[in-house]
Amino acid sequence: MRIARRVSPITVSALRRLLLPTAVVGILAGISAAQPAKPTMKAIVVHEYGGPEVLKYENAPRPEPKEDQVLVRVMAAGVNPVDAIVRQGMFGQRDLDKRPLIVGYDISGVVEKTGAKIEKLKRGDAVYAYLSILHGGGYAEFAIAKPDEMSLKPRNINFEEAGAVPLAATTAWQALIDTAKIDKGQTVLIHGGSGGVGSFAIQIAKARGARVIATASTANQDLLKQLGVDQAIDYTTTKFEDVVKDVDVVLNAVRGDTLARSYGVIKKGGIIVSITEPPDQAMCEKLGIRGSDLTAHPDANVLQELSKLIEAKKIKPIVSQVMPLTEAAKAQEQIETRHTRGKIVLKVADEAK
Ligand SMILES: NC(=O)c1ccc[n+]([C@@H]2O[C@H](COP(=O)([O-])OP(=O)(O)OC[C@H]3O[C@@H](n4cnc5c(N)ncnc54)[C@H](OP(=O)(O)O)[C@@H]3O)[C@@H](O)[C@H]2O)c1
Repeated sequence: MRIARRVSPITVSALRRLLLPTAVVGILAGISAAQPAKPTMKAIVVHEYGGPEVLKYENAPRPEPKEDQVLVRVMAAGVNPVDAIVRQGMFGQRDLDKRPLIVGYDISGVVEKTGAKIEKLKRGDAVYAYLSILHGGGYAEFAIAKPDEMSLKPRNINFEEAGAVPLAATTAWQALIDTAKIDKGQTVLIHGGSGGVGSFAIQIAKARGARVIATASTANQDLLKQLGVDQAIDYTTTKFEDVVKDVDVVLNAVRGDTLARSYGVIKKGGIIVSITEPPDQAMCEKLGIRGSDLTAHPDANVLQELSKLIEAKKIKPIVSQVMPLTEAAKAQEQIETRHTRGKIVLKVADEAK
């Protein structure tokens, strides 16, 4: 772009007047012709870490896929608690500071362009993806995804619902299926059943044939029942440890003292998986249970399994709020309350009719 501006036709003739060899002038003029303006896109960009006000809606360079990458035209981007944590400077103290950065790890959209080594996806495919936390880029009109982070979008849900799925549902899957290895007939207690992770966890556990107990506040008791829980507990009126015992698995998806109060409700040989703070290993050992923390990660195979369950109508994403991309700051203020019902999704583009 800079070269293009400098080597205008006037400049070329000026070079000729300076009697530069014709070949050199030709090369410079050629460079100018071969450098079209780089495409841009609208995105929410973080230049400085801080509160929601640092999220700026502006023009940003449109990314170009490398040979093993896919460029996705984003239709919707899911909002997760980690988006706000990165915005506040999660990577600021490390070598991973890549500002200006675009947060957003959940996208649904349409393949715009594929790198030379991409074989299974083509332009026009409807997809959804869980973008690596190290790259993100979801709050934008275009984002780069790798094949091992993405899958074809479930056919029976729209882009907004699909944008709500990847990170939260993958986390629930990796906690309950990959880590706890839940089985038919087991009893699972899910703390935070009405949130992003919890609402998927309940449905995944039910689909596996487990008996599910879940906690939420009074306002979300109806949602727990709608999701199919066998026992809904209102944590504002009832201490779960007074009404629950001998569960096989606990999934802890909330912060506070819930983790510490959970060890005693698990039967010997059972497991607690916590996605907020690591379990106390000494306590687990003393009680004869296992404790595991979890850092979720993108996995295309998990997305494919989720697509099957969604298409079989065993899982339905709960989207409580859809906001335009320009309202990303408002969406993050909401997610930071830690009381979001289901998921919030940013709508980036209108679905073609
Ligand atoms: N380790 C990982 O890889 C990983 C991955 C994803 C998420 N996380 C973390 O896991 C947590 C949950 O994530 P998320 O996406 O599900 O968050 P979220 O959608 O913001 O969860 C909000 C839900 O939590 C419920 N809640 C709040 N306090 C509660 C309590 N004391 N008992 C029961 N429910 C309570 C709220 O219900 P009420 O409004 O009814 O209170 C609300 O529906 C976050 O801290 C997130 O950072 C970790």
